[in-house]
Amino acid sequence: MADDRVDHKRRRFLTGVTSGVGLVGGVVAVVPFVASMSPSARARAAGAPVEADFSKLNPGQMMTVEWRGKPVWIVNRTPSMLADLAGLDSKLADANSEVEDQQPEYAQNPTRSIRPEILVLVGICTHLGCSPSEKFQVGPDSGIETDWKGGFFCPCHGSKFDLAGRVYKGVPAPTNLVVPPHSFLSDTAILIGVGPEEQGAA
Ligand code: FES
Repeated sequence: MADDRVDHKRRRFLTGVTSGVGLVGGVVAVVPFVASMSPSARARAAGAPVEADFSKLNPGQMMTVEWRGKPVWIVNRTPSMLADLAGLDSKLADANSEVEDQQPEYAQNPTRSIRPEILVLVGICTHLGCSPSEKFQVGPDSGIETDWKGGFFCPCHGSKFDLAGRVYKGVPAPTNLVVPPHSFLSDTAILIGVGPEEQGAA
């Protein structure tokens, strides 16, 4: 049973990576290079920050990159997606992102982001580690609930997250999805793994 879950998760993650935009080819191409490194260089590279070019990411779209072996989602939220966040507080377990380890201080705000439209999340469910699915369709057609405002759904045990990665009340996942350290290199490029305050030292 456990093996089934791991295989399912891996398949979902690989599907997400291969359907991403732009940078993904670059990430895959790096693997043989990393494999040829010495063990210490490989260890450094495994923890290294990852640069993501999101210039082709249109409003309402999401891309996936890999950082430290984990899927990291970048979502370009539309004004209506952002507006819907404000009305969800009563349905959420940690609407104000008060669990400190789930995001850096600079993302402890209503949109859980540095730039409101750009959401960056580690795409791993905080229950038992499955990779949730993107559910951006709103309303009854979402298949989630009639007044669904868009977000992420974990099929393993039914956890729901909004479009800031905040977990709904009454689901197995105990906390919001993790916002990883990140900073902007330009209007269309982001560095995952290094926060704004550390960027000069990276
Ligand atoms: S792993 Fe996501 S709900 Fe259980």
